Amino acid sequence: MSLPNPDNRPLLIGPPTGPEAPFPFRMEGEVISGFGRGSKELGIPTANLPVDDENAWIKNIDSGIYFGWASLKLPASHPNSVLYQKPPTSEPVMMDPVQQQQQQQQQQRNQQQQQEGGVGSAQQEKLVDQETGQWQIYPMVMSIGYNPFYKNTVRSAEVHVLGEFAADFYGVGMRLLITGFIRNEKDYSGLEALIADIHFDCEVARHSLARKGWRVRELGVKEGEEEGELDGSWLVR
Ligand SMILES: Cc1cc2nc3c(=O)[nH]c(=O)nc-3n(C[C@H](O)[C@H](O)[C@H](O)COP(=O)(O)O)c2cc1C
Repeated sequence: MSLPNPDNRPLLIGPPTGPEAPFPFRMEGEVISGFGRGSKELGIPTANLPVDDENAWIKNIDSGIYFGWASLKLPASHPNSVLYQKPPTSEPVMMDPVQQQQQQQQQQRNQQQQQEGGVGSAQQEKLVDQETGQWQIYPMVMSIGYNPFYKNTVRSAEVHVLGEFAADFYGVGMRLLITGFIRNEKDYSGLEALIADIHFDCEVARHSLARKGWRVRELGVKEGEEEGELDGSWLVR
């Protein structure tokens, strides 16, 4: 089933070879709460980053909708963390296939380290990871600007991370590799049109980032997908 596309928008941004200058941009910070309309009104939760002196360049960049990769340092206590140990009585956790694969790979690594019997400081490393969390990569779409539909007076950077999350992640470290520009911010006569455009933005991001020139190497190879060629080392270092 294809999404409505009244404006006949392109599904792919940029050439197959990868992001074009001046992209990619980097942005980093701790997730803060926005104006609170994201999940309630739109059903599209957003993780905001502060537009402050740490990310000063973002004050001057063109307003609009961008896409790229987000990395979240989810603590082991977060149900979507690859380090999460499910309590025996808990409800099943929603996970998308990429996360499931990342969690399985981490569990295999943990098992292997245990079998190798404390080689290096594997046990210790695991403890440190549990505390501080581990960077996990997801595709994302983001809005930078004033949300004309809501007539904000303060510039915001709002990220919609493309994944299924079983819990909020306010306060968690987030890094962004912004790979391209999708469209200008728009005003709308109704909420449905805004929601439809954001859903289409998500499809643009998914399709554009699936190409090998745009997929980060650090994601590894997934069945049926091409191996990424884009350097995403900053997202996980
Ligand atoms: C991919 C994406 C595209 C967006 N496009 C627009 C837009 O064209 N016009 C607009 O006014 N707001 C746009 N927004 C902003 C949403 O209106 C905003 O995220 C929403 O109001 C939730 O904000 P809050 O959680 O800070 O309340 C977009 C947000 C995202 C994530």
